[in-house]
Amino acid sequence: METSNIRNFAIIAHVDHGKSTLADRLLEITKTVSKEKMKEQFLDQNPISRERGITIKLAPVRMEYQYFSSLNSHLSTPNSKYILNLIDTPGHVDFSYEVSRTLACCEGVVLLVDATQGIQAQTVAHFNSAKKENLVVIPVVNKIDLPNSQPEITAKSLCEAFGFKEQEIIYVSAKTGDNVEFLLKTIIEKIPPPSSAKSYLRCLVFDAVYDEHRGVIAFVKVKDGSLKLSERIKFYQTGIESEVSELGFFSPFLTPSQSLQEGEIGYVIAGIKDIRLCKVGDTITVQSSKLSIRQAQDKKVQSDEEIEPLSGYKEAKPMVFFGVYPKSTNDFVHLKESLAKLILTDAALSLEEEHSAFLGSGFRVGFLGLLHAEIIKERLTKEYLINPLFTMPQVLYEKKNDGSIFEPYATLSVYTPQAYIGPIMSLCQKNKGNLIDMKYHESYSTLIYEIPYVMIVRGLSSKIKSVSSGFASIDYELIDFRKANVINLEIRVNDNPIDVLSELVYKEDAFHIGREKVEKLKKTLKKQQFRQVIQAFMEGKIIAREEIPPFRKDVLAKMSGGTGQEKISF
Ligand code: GTP
Repeated sequence: METSNIRNFAIIAHVDHGKSTLADRLLEITKTVSKEKMKEQFLDQNPISRERGITIKLAPVRMEYQYFSSLNSHLSTPNSKYILNLIDTPGHVDFSYEVSRTLACCEGVVLLVDATQGIQAQTVAHFNSAKKENLVVIPVVNKIDLPNSQPEITAKSLCEAFGFKEQEIIYVSAKTGDNVEFLLKTIIEKIPPPSSAKSYLRCLVFDAVYDEHRGVIAFVKVKDGSLKLSERIKFYQTGIESEVSELGFFSPFLTPSQSLQEGEIGYVIAGIKDIRLCKVGDTITVQSSKLSIRQAQDKKVQSDEEIEPLSGYKEAKPMVFFGVYPKSTNDFVHLKESLAKLILTDAALSLEEEHSAFLGSGFRVGFLGLLHAEIIKERLTKEYLINPLFTMPQVLYEKKNDGSIFEPYATLSVYTPQAYIGPIMSLCQKNKGNLIDMKYHESYSTLIYEIPYVMIVRGLSSKIKSVSSGFASIDYELIDFRKANVINLEIRVNDNPIDVLSELVYKEDAFHIGREKVEKLKKTLKKQQFRQVIQAFMEGKIIAREEIPPFRKDVLAKMSGGTGQEKISF
């Protein structure tokens, strides 16, 4: 297929605005999936995705469409077949990095906004990312079939917030399919075909999955040159050299082919067994770092030309950590094996063995965010039939040689109707947020804060939802580490430190957190034959104390005859 007949695009939107449903309609119109095989949110193959109705993984699909020219078509090949590579992306902020990876493979995006919700935080964040990549953005208002939808108001806010012209906005119902074919034609007309910068092979690895039988499957966009079956390739960053044993397209299932041409999106299998060796953002190129004479002749370039890698993107780093412990020591090996298998399929997870004096042997597991942790917890229960204990979440602190501690900071963007600005501002202030910017739009406002990341991990997002009756939405991005006035709050029961409850807290919050913890423990711990003293320590001093008295023998029990067994009263 000629590169001029290829279109690579993504659908970007805030969570639940209808990306996967729109993708379903596109699959139907292009007859990529037959009506009988179509199930809702087809591209969400992950069972947890399907159950929760959220996309947690990007999903590429290749569609073919016979385009017939419209009156205003400027295309050089009007009445011909087009290949449309669509990448469905997750909307939740925990998985924003998947969106940025997707955008690097596309020449354009469909910016989808739910007409009952209007613009939300991720709409703004993803629009800005698409603009940064210089992508063509097609604004689309969705859910126009719903009686409470406000298409005109939504369109107006799109024009006002992002500078679109009213006539550019397309109104669709992803549910009923209304106007979706028109959108498909607009994608062909407005989004440019891929272009290339070099004459030798360069593929961008934008995702990778692990298959038990075939090993690592790299998802790639061929930016320059072409890739053939049995060709020897090199992963630029890791230096791994290998032979292509299979390649092909997503249609939507893996469909083998003989080659992948310039501008195409597909997959490559090259005998790699460890997903960590196939780095997302890496460049696949020809085998040697300098082109061999033969390759140079084939590709008509200088034999000693250095291969220039594609600019990758930031690796997704785990930022939230949980202690994960088996409920019984007998389950330790099973938990270890299950986590090791999960890591094979999810390169964003990190895993380290740790020991707690209280819970025994377990693991410190790093996640991208709370939703990521929740999903892994669910996968452990459903796929690996193990239900471990997760301790409270911790963020990553940096300890300097001089003993000072630095904590991660994030830029928090809150997108809210104006009526809720007051409560949101006081909430963010209480959570150590520092207001950086505030923008008023017609009915909505954007508040930008710099805030300790730990506040987001400790549930700021749901508090914002609650004070705004669910209308405000947030987006955040980690920026740097800043000095933090934190101390170690230690909890002890009968002088035994309970390491899983000890944590770094802000000095000024230590007293009330310490009090809260000992009171909670008092309510949770069962009475014993002995007295239990629960204490919170800060810098060697006791800052809170509670006591659980021992069981009291019922002295009257024996006198009443009874069974002779000791009765215990509470
Ligand atoms: P995430 O993957 O979680 O980000 O969500 P998404 O953007 O992919 O949204 P999804 O397609 O899962 O749709 C969310 C809900 O909105 C589902 O219940 C859909 O059936 C519904 N929905 C999507 N588009 C329309 C529409 O045009 N009209 C109506 N009535 N409902 C829609």
